[in-house]
Amino acid sequence: MRVLVTGGAGFIGSEFVRQLNEEVAILDTLTYAGDLNRLEKVMSRISFFRADVRDMEQIQKIFKDFEPEMVVHFAAETHVDRSILFPTQFYETNVIGTHNVLQASLETGVELFINVSTDEVYGERRGEGKFREDDPLRPGSPYAVSKAAADMLGRAFMRTYGLPVITVRPSNNYGPWQYPEKLIPVVIAKALKDEPIPVYGTGENLREWIHVSDTARALTKILENPRPGEIYNIGSGIELKNIDVVKKILRILGKPEDLITFVRDRAGHDFRYSLNTEKIRKEIGWSPEIGFDEGLYQTVMWYIEHMEWLEEKIKTVRNFWKMVYENESGDNRS
Ligand SMILES: NC(=O)c1ccc[n+]([C@@H]2O[C@H](COP(=O)([O-])OP(=O)(O)OC[C@H]3O[C@@H](n4cnc5c(N)ncnc54)[C@H](O)[C@@H]3O)[C@@H](O)[C@H]2O)c1
Repeated sequence: MRVLVTGGAGFIGSEFVRQLNEEVAILDTLTYAGDLNRLEKVMSRISFFRADVRDMEQIQKIFKDFEPEMVVHFAAETHVDRSILFPTQFYETNVIGTHNVLQASLETGVELFINVSTDEVYGERRGEGKFREDDPLRPGSPYAVSKAAADMLGRAFMRTYGLPVITVRPSNNYGPWQYPEKLIPVVIAKALKDEPIPVYGTGENLREWIHVSDTARALTKILENPRPGEIYNIGSGIELKNIDVVKKILRILGKPEDLITFVRDRAGHDFRYSLNTEKIRKEIGWSPEIGFDEGLYQTVMWYIEHMEWLEEKIKTVRNFWKMVYENESGDNRS
């Protein structure tokens, strides 16, 4: 089976490629978030196409050359804070880019398209309930809106043109190789340097945490027993307040809690996401294998062993936000 993985040099896509035992090609433009180092151990058995999903001609050429039977579409702009400042980049890559990959798949007769969406498309869920796959989408941030549009485009391509599309909606992922603009690697990086750890608002926001290896395993299981047209939530049921995640990391590292610094809340910050995962458990026979404490400990140790990588990425994060603040003129949306 020839599988084309868009965004395969990213955090989750690369774990999926490391786990997948098929003929694989990666299509990735290598933004600040993409990094081929994540694929070092498997590079000899995969092909790599450097291309931007926004560029239809490039995409069509790659599809003609590689002739994928299956496409797993991860490529996206993924950092919510950036989407608040630069929303159009998110619409271009996540909406137009997804349209281009779907269209090229249709033109070349792709047999299965897995569209990687997110739990954020449902919007926030206060109280007790959990989102089911048939709940309405009420995305709250520009990132979530762009992902909801991409999610719906995938389903429209199936309904309108018959492209066999499966949609997956994973919850918050964590694990090795995550770019340090997400909570867990940010906290590890700051704590290791005894620097103040910024926590949004009061830190009460709840997220459902799943280890990236469990998410990738869910996807490989879906490929073994594909049911086009279906949507699957991928979650662990492990819901934690951000502040509790931060405290757990500090305990692992033996660092004091007074490093925690509460900062002004993110605009429109969703309070809670929570997924009902009965469907994937019953239909696909998948369930997560990695407990949060075990996965978090292993993740912290991984970053300690990969300090050079972490420091290099932290520099790129710092330079980006420095440039943003220096250029801040009251209207810096692009
Ligand atoms: N990380 C999470 O917690 C999470 C949770 C749910 C869903 N998701 C979704 O899973 C997918 C992967 O997330 P991730 O955390 O690995 O993201 P990531 O930011 O680590 O990786 C994204 C990859 O896409 C590539 N890319 C970005 N723009 C591109 C473009 N225009 N053309 C080609 N390639 C481009 C980047 O170079 C990078 O390799 C995304 O679609 C994301 O929305 C992520």
